[in-house]
Amino acid sequence: MIDRQTIDKILDAAEIVEVIQEFVPLKKRGVNYLGLCPFHNEKTPSFTVSPSKEIFKCFGCGKVGNVVNFIMEHEHLTYPEALKYLAKKYHIEVVEKERTQEEVEKENERESLLVITAYASRLFTENLYNTNEGISVGLAYFKERGFRQDTLKKFEVGYSFEQRDSFSKKAIENGFKTELLVKTGLTIQHEERIFDRFSGRVMFPIHSLSGQVLGFGGRILKADPKSAKYLNSPESEIYHKSRIVYGIYQARKAISREDRCYMVEGYTDVMSMHEAGIENVVASSGTSLTQEQIRLIKRFTPNMTILYDGDPAGIKASLRGIDLVLEEGMNVKIVLLPDGEDPDSYSKKISNEEFSLYLKEKETDFIRFKTQLLLAEANNDPTQKANLIRDIVKSIAVIPEGITRTVYIKECSAVMEVSEEVLYHEVNKLRQQKSFQERNRYPGLEDLPVPPVQAVKPVVYKTISFYSEREVIRLLLKYGSREFERIINKEDGREDVITVSDYVVKEITSDDLSFDDKTCAKIFADFRFYSVQGLIPGDKHFVKHEDPDISRFSADVLSESHELSRIWKDKQTYVETEDMKLRDVVPDAVLKFKSDKIIAARKEIMTQLEEAAKEGDQEKVLKLQHRFNNLSTALGMISRQLGNRILL
Ligand code: CTP
Ligand code: MN
Repeated sequence: MIDRQTIDKILDAAEIVEVIQEFVPLKKRGVNYLGLCPFHNEKTPSFTVSPSKEIFKCFGCGKVGNVVNFIMEHEHLTYPEALKYLAKKYHIEVVEKERTQEEVEKENERESLLVITAYASRLFTENLYNTNEGISVGLAYFKERGFRQDTLKKFEVGYSFEQRDSFSKKAIENGFKTELLVKTGLTIQHEERIFDRFSGRVMFPIHSLSGQVLGFGGRILKADPKSAKYLNSPESEIYHKSRIVYGIYQARKAISREDRCYMVEGYTDVMSMHEAGIENVVASSGTSLTQEQIRLIKRFTPNMTILYDGDPAGIKASLRGIDLVLEEGMNVKIVLLPDGEDPDSYSKKISNEEFSLYLKEKETDFIRFKTQLLLAEANNDPTQKANLIRDIVKSIAVIPEGITRTVYIKECSAVMEVSEEVLYHEVNKLRQQKSFQERNRYPGLEDLPVPPVQAVKPVVYKTISFYSEREVIRLLLKYGSREFERIINKEDGREDVITVSDYVVKEITSDDLSFDDKTCAKIFADFRFYSVQGLIPGDKHFVKHEDPDISRFSADVLSESHELSRIWKDKQTYVETEDMKLRDVVPDAVLKFKSDKIIAARKEIMTQLEEAAKEGDQEKVLKLQHRFNNLSTALGMISRQLGNRILL
């Protein structure tokens, strides 16, 4: 963890124009700078950097944020990584939060293990190219499979000698501790005796995103039913199989550039795809993808294409695993390879052009692929078809984006000859079950009763109050510290200045109202926290906030310009701007916020009423009716204040 002081130092030093100019040529336009947006393709510049507001915004694609957000987006870094990048640029020493003795030791151990894996990787390549055994056995194997020298170098493949303790012995001679060698998994200790995990194998190092060697895969050279074809490093302090995908280090730039990631099964598939000119490819190493692996890829692209070897049983088994990819909001496509071919063999059989063309032409959307595959199997058998529909619906239900779900429902309805309404109903039922189970998650009760399904509109974009919540926060961010009104203290005649922030915080907290939108809620909590201490956080506090959602949100709000154009000022025409009307604008926004909250609450009561009526619970019905009426009265009062602008 980087401490707050250091973060502030970095943010103060980082000059947004200077930082962005390293990646995007910028031209001065008035008070701002303009350039071609690096986040989407454009011919006329709409990417704007404001040095005074310390934010960037693209008016073409909508990307917006502060200097850290820019580095995160552009370089695909996490928040602390982006901060460290800037710290390096401005020669600021990064002071990490004080760590416990245990944490320091862990960190030191991790570093020692990384030193060992780097050493081992170097040694294995040494063996491959510069020893008799390496050349005649290891290198000969790669050559026979048709791999090019530059590919072997790119993936830093190597060779581990046949002698059972050759590596471990040498490492110990070089001063590495046996205990640590064992922790990397490279060495196996049996009482007093020491063995290499990998011997007589060609070695594939597994790299982290930044190119450190975390572990290895080792392939046997001749088919041998007694030993596994591949051996892999066991889990360790540095190697967590579930968090990394093979080839990401060599692929990351291409994945970004092509805005797509190909997913294959094996080490050699990745290497062969590179040889075929397709570099945006990673391997799952033969297991189904984990959430962490998917998120790692999603840092570079939301688009994934999975290459399947043509074996229907295997494909069917892996379909379920893909729901996890959909659930992360990724767009998934499938390419089915010809029978008996994997990407390695097929890319070698045909020319690079033919292979690329094959991938393009055979690419099928995942839901479509799954539907067709299962439909062909169902053979018009009604029971099987019902199962199939349930199965597809499960996949559609996990997709987070409502519009995408709608599109799939339409399509599947056509292909499967089932009405859209039925599919909507099923999808919504599953989504409600899931959110209900998530809210009530406690051990041992997986099969909780499911609440009755209400008629749900196909796509619900935002909660009722999203826009009014956002408007309140916008006013707080822009005008929080401005004077709202003055109150004369009757006792000592002193004037108290009530700021916009004071007013809004009081209005909203005294009615016990809260924000549904997470980012709005966090920003409001900050205003509330400061307001109690008589302070008001400035807009920079939020633009430079350590929560990227908050900094992005505030940059977005603050980039909206309500300022007058020069022409108006020059002509000296009197025009009322928003900041001159705070006395009206702010209370209006608060009232609108309140009325939206009441409308939402009434809706909620309405459904409860219907249920209570159905159950015949008269007492409950009366109670709810009473509350409903109270809310209606309050709504009436508010709408009168708002000038009857709300339609009841
Ligand atoms: N794998 C493994 N252990 C095994 C078999 C496979 O870890 N015993 C993993 C490896 O990462 C391998 C991937 O699963 O790359 C795919 O396995 P497979 O298709 O059997 O191997 P290929 O990648 O085709 O390897 P090769 O072409 O060298 O035979
Ligand atoms: Mn293969």
